[in-house]
Amino acid sequence: MKGFPGSFAFGGVLEMTPQDPTGAILGSWGLLFLLLSSLPCHLCPVPCECSEPARTVKCVQKELTAVPTGIPGYTRNLFITGNQITWIGRQDFQGLPNLVTLSLANNRISTVESWAFSTLQSLRYLDLSNNLLFTIRPEAFNVTANSIQELNLSHSLYNSSALLSLEATLVQGGFRNLSRLELTSNEIVYLPPGMFSGLPKLKHLDLRNNSLMDIKNSTFSGLNLKFLDLTLNAFRTLKTEALSVLGRQPHLRVFLKDNPFMCNCDIKELVSWLNQSQQVGDMDKLTCVFPQELQNISLVDQVGTKFACHSSQSGENALQTSYAALGVALGVIGIIFLFVLYLNRKGMKMWAYSMRDTCQNLLEEYRYRYEMDSDRRIAQMLAMDI
Ligand SMILES: *[C@@H]1O[C@H](CO)[C@@H](O)[C@H](O)[C@H]1NC(C)=O
Ligand SMILES: *[C@@H]1O[C@H](CO)[C@@H](O)[C@H](O)[C@H]1NC(C)=O
Ligand SMILES: *[C@@H]1O[C@H](CO)[C@@H](O)[C@H](O)[C@H]1NC(C)=O
Ligand SMILES: *[C@@H]1O[C@H](CO)[C@@H](O)[C@H](O)[C@H]1NC(C)=O
Ligand SMILES: *[C@@H]1O[C@H](CO)[C@@H](O)[C@H](O)[C@H]1NC(C)=O
Ligand SMILES: *[C@@H]1O[C@H](CO)[C@@H](O)[C@H](O)[C@H]1NC(C)=O
Ligand SMILES: *[C@@H]1O[C@H](CO)[C@@H](O)[C@H](O)[C@H]1NC(C)=O
Ligand SMILES: *[C@@H]1O[C@H](CO)[C@@H](O)[C@H](O)[C@H]1NC(C)=O
Repeated sequence: MKGFPGSFAFGGVLEMTPQDPTGAILGSWGLLFLLLSSLPCHLCPVPCECSEPARTVKCVQKELTAVPTGIPGYTRNLFITGNQITWIGRQDFQGLPNLVTLSLANNRISTVESWAFSTLQSLRYLDLSNNLLFTIRPEAFNVTANSIQELNLSHSLYNSSALLSLEATLVQGGFRNLSRLELTSNEIVYLPPGMFSGLPKLKHLDLRNNSLMDIKNSTFSGLNLKFLDLTLNAFRTLKTEALSVLGRQPHLRVFLKDNPFMCNCDIKELVSWLNQSQQVGDMDKLTCVFPQELQNISLVDQVGTKFACHSSQSGENALQTSYAALGVALGVIGIIFLFVLYLNRKGMKMWAYSMRDTCQNLLEEYRYRYEMDSDRRIAQMLAMDI
């Protein structure tokens, strides 16, 4: 695209040639020189599309295996998506001081090397979603002046080991201005304590579609969140600790639907919290998943319900009582049995001897029969061979 204005100018110069040869030739050389000297900042990497007015470069689904070189210095928005890139190194984004938006979504990136993004002093939006991240060096970002405000890491972690690498990066990467972090669809089971402690401006945290079961005291400490999406996780309930963590974020809206809430005794606290908290954005959509008979029943409709709590507790107590009684009874029977044995110790000895003799006889008879049997089998085999 960028080639066109240049070729038109050149065409115009050639048309002038018949009227004033020398001047035109000099002029054309001058223009050519101008053109050549200005070329480096107007070129576009081969498979990409560049728009200088929009300050945008797109290299979308070009089967690239590395970040292309020669991206123009004016670029503010760079989309290198849907390619086969596996590795981001420190030379990949040199000379792009104006870059604000960078999307590397839908690649196969597993490693982000140290200093990979550290020269991008204007970067605000970084999209690394749908990748296979395993190693992200904390020094990948400009630690002293990391300007990133939004980071998209949805469906981007290779496995749970990658979460530790990410944790180190978030803690040490100097994300002082990060306000939005997306971590959806990463199969996260557990958030390392203090994982978000280096993100003082974080407001919007999206953890949808993971496998979280609990929120710990230290999980969101030091934050003042406004939006927390925990839908499609593995919460069966939220207990005291988790509820007080949420309560300590005064401006927070939290979203909790599509969790497998277990409506037994343990859900009581959550239900009464729901009754008075203003923080849950999708309260009407929270339903019991277990047990079967309460399935699809709304949690907020359960306020005041005992959830078979007392009955199950008293049931448990009754069970414990009956176990104790059973133990005592067995003990008594055992003692009586031993006492009877003691009283009959002479008779017992006799009985034992006679038992031993009987057993010996039985064993002998059995051995005899077995030998007879095996003899017969051997005889049969011999007969078949012949
Ligand atoms: C980080 O960004 C600042 C400007 O914001 C720049 O002066 C510094 O050189 C950058 N650091 C690195 C390692 O590129
Ligand atoms: C962080 O944000 C503030 C206010 O929006 C801005 O003044 C500051 O320059 C930003 N810091 C960096 C490193 O971009
Ligand atoms: C983050 O990436 C996911 C997956 O590519 C996408 O659905 C979502 O819209 C992105 N978020 C933002 C804020 O762009
Ligand atoms: C994650 O993948 C790496 C590389 O394949 C492997 O070494 C590591 O054990 C995996 N971690 C887990 C928790 O599966
Ligand atoms: C949830 O995440 C898994 C991968 O972790 C993905 O395959 C699935 O499509 C996601 N589902 C939704 C509804 O986003
Ligand atoms: C949780 O953290 C708060 C302050 O952040 C503290 O007051 C409280 O004692 C902690 N609770 C537990 C169980 O650690
Ligand atoms: C609960 O809802 C789901 C989906 O809406 C449905 O498949 C299921 O049969 C319902 N269960 C009961 C007990 O109503
Ligand atoms: C639910 O909240 C209302 C006020 O918001 C209160 O009067 C009521 O006692 C609460 N019910 C339970 C069971 O906590």
